[in-house]
Order: sequence, then structure tokens, then C-alpha cells
Amino acid sequence: MTTRYIPDAGRLYGPEFARDPQAVYAELRRRYGPVAPVEIAPGIGAHLVLGYQAAVDVLTDAGGTWSKDSRAWMATLPETPEAAGAVGMLGYRSNALFSDGAEHARYRKAIIDCFGMVQPHKLRQLVIEVADSLIARFAANGEADLAGDFARPIPLKIFNRLFGRPDSDSDALISALSDLMEADGEAGARGLDAFSRYLGELVAAKYAERGDDLTSWLIDHPAGLTQEELIWQLVLVVAASYEPTASLISNAVSRMVSDDRYYSSLTNGALSTYDALLEALRAEPAMANYGPYFVRQPVHFHGTWIRPAELVLVSYAGANTEPTNVPDELRSDGGAYLGFGAGPHRCPASDPAMLIAMTAIERLTSHLCDLELTVPREELSWRPGPFHRSLAHLPVRFTPIRPDQPGESPWAAQPPSSSIPSAETFPARSAGYVTSAPWSS
Ligand code: HEM
Repeated sequence: MTTRYIPDAGRLYGPEFARDPQAVYAELRRRYGPVAPVEIAPGIGAHLVLGYQAAVDVLTDAGGTWSKDSRAWMATLPETPEAAGAVGMLGYRSNALFSDGAEHARYRKAIIDCFGMVQPHKLRQLVIEVADSLIARFAANGEADLAGDFARPIPLKIFNRLFGRPDSDSDALISALSDLMEADGEAGARGLDAFSRYLGELVAAKYAERGDDLTSWLIDHPAGLTQEELIWQLVLVVAASYEPTASLISNAVSRMVSDDRYYSSLTNGALSTYDALLEALRAEPAMANYGPYFVRQPVHFHGTWIRPAELVLVSYAGANTEPTNVPDELRSDGGAYLGFGAGPHRCPASDPAMLIAMTAIERLTSHLCDLELTVPREELSWRPGPFHRSLAHLPVRFTPIRPDQPGESPWAAQPPSSSIPSAETFPARSAGYVTSAPWSS
């Protein structure tokens, strides 16, 4: 199943899937029901969980049927470039995403506790500062690619600062990640090198001198992470925040500027930014199929036999859009369905992620209030790949604004840069940033 060729498997790669993944999910549902055979790359098979109830059963498993540990699956893979690509995204690392039980609880608690120390109003200030600085780069041009010029740099600039690095380091992180994620071959290797260098310097600097930042808090957390574990949690936080948050912003903005229900909201408040985010999370979740799971024993699951070492992918996109008769008010997810996952591995940062996306979009639409797409939404291009739903470009035009114009502007509205004071040493507190660290008393 895992690697052999499956004649009728759905293809989660190639331009056809990128153009209209929902058509592929609908056809797979029709042919196979809630669990369907797919290939994530030529010769790399998986079971795709498309049924909403089936997805919830995997995610909230209380019986110990499911595991996140991908090592047995990795051992079945051939030595091909396709397999190497799959391992890049799904290979085991000692971090929260790929671990179970006590090990998972330890990593996850460290991440949650440290994120809990980032105060929402300070994070909001940081997002405003970052969003405004990016908007200021293109506001006078009257046109922009909001995917590349705005949505993608936002999470990286924010996390660079939350990690405790100066803003000047964020360009290195942005170019490393864009090489790593956007390309393969030479550029991919260059990106990996640059990202490793960034992390190495970050960790060395924070071991030498703590600050009020996520890296220092993770180092000193009572979970007692080893240096290797620390690096893998940082890699997870960067990977888990970059692509999903950037895509959430792009996907939501692309709806707001192409749908009258939102467009009118820019001026008269019909549907809000929050509505657009929930709709994007439901209909086009950024982590479309990135829910890797494995069974511990052979199981007959919603009509399909699944064996250990076979890759199972929860399709958040497929499950969220399964035609069911369950009314929204009976769902417990406030309309986002499974956009942030569910159960023990549910995204631990959904609140900060929503705050980042919401604040960034509100800055954008308040500075540039007549944004419009330069092509119809149906003609926007999406990045290929099995795991994400991510716009390649989001080309817009708008009435240009100038630095010398009166009133609030992205040039004038920069708030003080106070989110991550750098001079203090943990566990000392800089004024107002941290109220308490659960492990410091
Ligand atoms: C501030 C930005 C974000 C950070 C730092 C973050 C971090 C994480 C981490 C650490 C995990 C692994 C948790 C675990 O395995 O216990 C995770 C899981 C997840 N995140 Fe996020 N995330 C962010 C934004 C988002 C966004 C915007 C989305 C959706 C659009 C999202 C969707 C998910 C989903 C679906 C999972 C579950 C994956 C699974 O079941 O395997 N995350 N996130």
C-alpha cells in the first residue's frame, strides 16, 4: 500500500489536483467512501480520510489505535527522490507533531506554556508593526502580490522576533524558508543550509544569554529539553506557523476581495474578517491534508483495512467539505470545523494564529480600502503539492497612498517596538511583557 503503484488511487499531486482539489475529493468519496487510496507522489501511497466522522475518530482516538510515529513507514520507502520529498515533510523528528503519549505531552506542554507567556496585546502590537512595515513597502505602487509581499513574510518576521532575534535577521529566515519550501534541488539544499545556520546561531546566542523570548523560555522550561529536542521544537514552530498562517491570510483575503458579501464589509460591515478566516479554515484549510497518522495494529476502519506502516492522512479539506446534514450550531468548533485539527494534536497555537491573521488583514484593509483582484479568483494559481492549500500569488491593485499624505498611514502608524524586549535575562521580567512563568516559582 505504501509504495506500490495503485492504479485507481487519487493523485494528490500535479496541476490538476492543484487547480481543483475538491473535484478530486468528490470523486474519491463517490468511489471509495470516507477512506480512499491516494498517491502523494508517484509511487508513494496513502489512505486519505475524507469523512468528517472518520477524521474525528482518528484525531480524537482514545483507544490507542493511532500513532504519530512515522518511523515504521519510513523504513518501507524506496530510495527515490519522491520518497525523499515525502520524508522531508513526514519524517520522524523528536517533536510534538511526531510523538505520542508521555513524550508528546512533555513537548506539547513546553510549547503551550511558552506560547502562554506571549501576551495577546503585545503580540497584536508586534503584528501591527510588522504588517505596517510590509504594507509601507508597496502601498505607493498601487499593486502588489499579497501572497509574496505580505502573507508569507508576516509569520516569519513575527516568529523571528518572538524567538528573540533582531528584525535584521528576518530576511535571512525568509529567504531560507522560501528556498526550502518553494524549490527543490539546489535551491532546496541552499535553503536547508541557511535555515540550519539560522537555528544554530539562534540557539547558540540564547544558550549564551537568555532573553524574554520563546527560545529562552523553551531552554529553561522544566521539561528539560535537550539541545536536539529544543531545535526540533523550534523547527516545528517555524514550519507549523509559516505555511499555515501565510495561507490562512492569503486564502481569507482572496475571499474578501472577490466576494460581495465581504467586499461590502470593507465599507459597511456585512461579513467580517473573522467570518472570512472561519470560511477559509473550513472550505480551504491551509493544512489541507497534512494530518499524518499510523495504526499500531491492523484495523478495519470505516470500510478499509489499514495496516501498521501504512501512511494515513487526515484530509482536513475533504472532511470539512463532506456534504453532511450536520447543522453548524451542532458543531463544537465555532465554524472552523477541523481547520485547526482536533484531539491531542490539535493546533496549540490557534488563538495566536487567529490573532496574527486577523490583525494583519485588518491593517491591510484599513490602509488600502479598495483592494481588488487583478484576475478573477477562479484564475488564481495555487501551489502544487499534496499537503497544503496555498496560493502561489495573490495579485491585487488599489489606490496608491503616499508617505506624505495626511492621516494614519503604514508609515505613520508604527507603534513602539515593545513586543520582545531583548536586554533582560530569563527569569527576570521586562516591564509588562510577562506576568508569570508557571515554572519559575
Ligand atoms: C502561530 C502560528 C502557528 C503555530 C506556532 C502552530 C503550531 C502548531 C504545532 C506546534 C502543532 C503540533 C501540535 C501537536 O502535535 O501536539 C500544530 C498542529 C496543527 N496546526 Fe498549527 N500552528 C500555527 C498556525 C496554524 C494555522 C494557521 C493552522 C490552520 C490554518 C494550523 C493548523 C494545525 C493543524 C490542523 C494541526 C494538527 C496537525 C495534526 O493533527 O497532525 N496551525 N500547530
